[in-house]
Amino acid sequence: MTDAARFTLIRHPSSGGAVDFARDVHAGLTATPKRLPFPYFYDEEGSRLFEAICGLPEYYLTRAEAEILGRHAGAIVAPLPPSVELVELGSGSATKTRLLLDALLARRPSLRYLPIDISETMLEESARGLLADYPSLQVTAIAAEYRSGLRILQDQPRAEDSARLVLWLGSNVGNFHRPDAARFLAEVRATMALRDRLLLGADLRKERTVLERAYDDAAGVTARFNLNLLARINRELGGHFAVDQFRHLARYDEPAGRIEMYLVSERDQAARIDGLGIDLTFAAGERIHTEDSYKYSQGELAHLAAAAGFTVEDQWMDEAGRFAVSRFAPA
Ligand code: TRP
Repeated sequence: MTDAARFTLIRHPSSGGAVDFARDVHAGLTATPKRLPFPYFYDEEGSRLFEAICGLPEYYLTRAEAEILGRHAGAIVAPLPPSVELVELGSGSATKTRLLLDALLARRPSLRYLPIDISETMLEESARGLLADYPSLQVTAIAAEYRSGLRILQDQPRAEDSARLVLWLGSNVGNFHRPDAARFLAEVRATMALRDRLLLGADLRKERTVLERAYDDAAGVTARFNLNLLARINRELGGHFAVDQFRHLARYDEPAGRIEMYLVSERDQAARIDGLGIDLTFAAGERIHTEDSYKYSQGELAHLAAAAGFTVEDQWMDEAGRFAVSRFAPA
């Protein structure tokens, strides 16, 4: 079969589009305190910067998770039946996915992979690479935010007795507030059969300095990733942000177990956004909240699983104990 015959792209009509972006930016920047919603980090430039973050010496998460998948992929997929579909939420470059594909295809002739990602460019690029390297792979890519992606996924007929392995890697769960993470996982659970499994990659609670460095690297890539939100508003909404008059701030709130990310105004300043017809003012030191990244303890992972209708069936950590990959089974 040709690569084209093995690739299908399903696009959600509106979500994450220009209309949503304008509406959410308007709501966030006219609120007190000001905030910007995180899914919008991942335009083309943002996706590129995020790939760079994954290779930074301070950002241990990607390497720790890859270490776990590399060592334990066989055990991770062991309970799955011969017929499997692999689903991935927020697939990005799908680099780590390959470790699981290798393990799955070692004992199966073929496989369908259904990545869900907000970036159509990333979906197309990653699928192209996977189709070239895995001749028996079939890819159904879903360009959508998580929730609309799940709905599209539910409409996808699956082979009679196949089981789905749903991946949610990269500690993307951490970008949800804890109760929202449980609610979202309960929605994922509702799409799953009893024989399906969920694989969750989550960063663990640890020492403040290690965490704050991971989200504020010496080369300033994470800062550029965060500041790209303002640059994106300038590009797409006719914004007039002086991007160099804001700085990146990452601080760990230890009791809450979360890294908080902000853009801080360096001085009193104004910024007009033509496309929204608004004039904003910022006091020196005023913050725009852009993202949280929650860290989990073992107990919090078990609690999350239970709250969403799962049990933790098995769990693996990297050698240094920084990151956990958990296999959840429907309870
Ligand atoms: N979910 C990952 C994390 O929390 C990746 C990520 C999302 C991220 N937004 C980020 C990394 C902002 C750095 C900065 O670590």
